[in-house]
Amino acid sequence: MRRVLVTGGTGFIGTELVRELSGMGLQPRVLVRRPHRAALLSNLDVEPVQGDLASPASLERALDGVDTVFHLGARASFESYRRLAPTVVDGTTTLARHAAAAGVRRFVFSSSLFVYGDQETPIDGATPTGPAIDYGVAKLEAESALNDIASEAQMDLAVVRLPHVYGPHSILFHQVRRGLALFPGAMTNECGQLHVADAARLLAAIGEQGWIGRSAVADGDRISWREFFETLRTFYPHLRLVTIPRWLGVAGAAALEPVLSSRARPTLYTKDTVRGFNLNVPVAPGLVWRDLDLEPRYPSVGTGIPAVLDGYLQYRWRHPMMDLRSA
Ligand SMILES: NC(=O)c1ccc[n+]([C@@H]2O[C@H](COP(=O)([O-])OP(=O)(O)OC[C@H]3O[C@@H](n4cnc5c(N)ncnc54)[C@H](OP(=O)(O)O)[C@@H]3O)[C@@H](O)[C@H]2O)c1
Repeated sequence: MRRVLVTGGTGFIGTELVRELSGMGLQPRVLVRRPHRAALLSNLDVEPVQGDLASPASLERALDGVDTVFHLGARASFESYRRLAPTVVDGTTTLARHAAAAGVRRFVFSSSLFVYGDQETPIDGATPTGPAIDYGVAKLEAESALNDIASEAQMDLAVVRLPHVYGPHSILFHQVRRGLALFPGAMTNECGQLHVADAARLLAAIGEQGWIGRSAVADGDRISWREFFETLRTFYPHLRLVTIPRWLGVAGAAALEPVLSSRARPTLYTKDTVRGFNLNVPVAPGLVWRDLDLEPRYPSVGTGIPAVLDGYLQYRWRHPMMDLRSA
């Protein structure tokens, strides 16, 4: 990789990826949609370029001289297809077409585990897709468009179906900071998990090693949402967890969604958010990691959650002068 472009570099996973690429000595170019958010990257050696997935001219400028694209930019929410398609499907397609025309050699796309529906056994290379929510439908459509464009242009394509990515700046940990988390459902379903630092390491390594393919990824552990929150509360007992029945979540979202969807900004309160958090989507261990000869730094939430809390809430750190306990 010589010159890389990151879309979504001002987002939750993107900032971590940009930090990783920057640490590798690359000076990533970052597509910045809202100028004030470029300040998030001001401590890093990056090249911000103003642009939007809806503006082909800005993409053309951003792609000039680029050999590898990391495409994370999207309306990353569980809203309706109509709300998601302009960025997830159309934006991805436009970006890929311009990337191919600009001679980009490698395209890394952050897709989602939600291209799969409910699964009884861990997802692996043989698991058929079949999304149960619109977000998964849109991601799968984007994957298919990318596939066509990349094979025609002979551009290397890596499609990374990310699981639930957690970290200090994830939405979930915003709730943790407020001391109250809400979960709509029984929490017995499993969902693949990945610490954001590992998501960034994995994406960067995919770009660096030139991994080509399409796969789900996760941290290697199998865990239900109940176990996830139990781990969280073990390390951070201040957290209050409120669970509501799934039907109530769906009913509440059905009432809120039409109101909140009238606003321009994305909303969390949708029926598909409730459905998505109730899908059973475990991931087989080692996928992609093995090919890259890498291991997750946080192989389970048992190691990843304390790392997040350490950095975020400083829950264990006490300055020596403030630590009055005797040896
Ligand atoms: N977080 C997860 O658990 C997870 C799991 C699976 C897949 N993914 C995928 O991974 C990617 C990153 O997710 P995330 O959680 O980091 O999302 P995020 O924090 O919501 O960030 C989204 C990024 O996309 C940018 N963006 C939105 N609309 C755009 C447009 N029209 N043109 C250019 N940029 C635009 C945003 O710019 P602003 O900063 O200006 O808003 C932001 O930088 C997404 O594609 C998401 O679908 C995430």
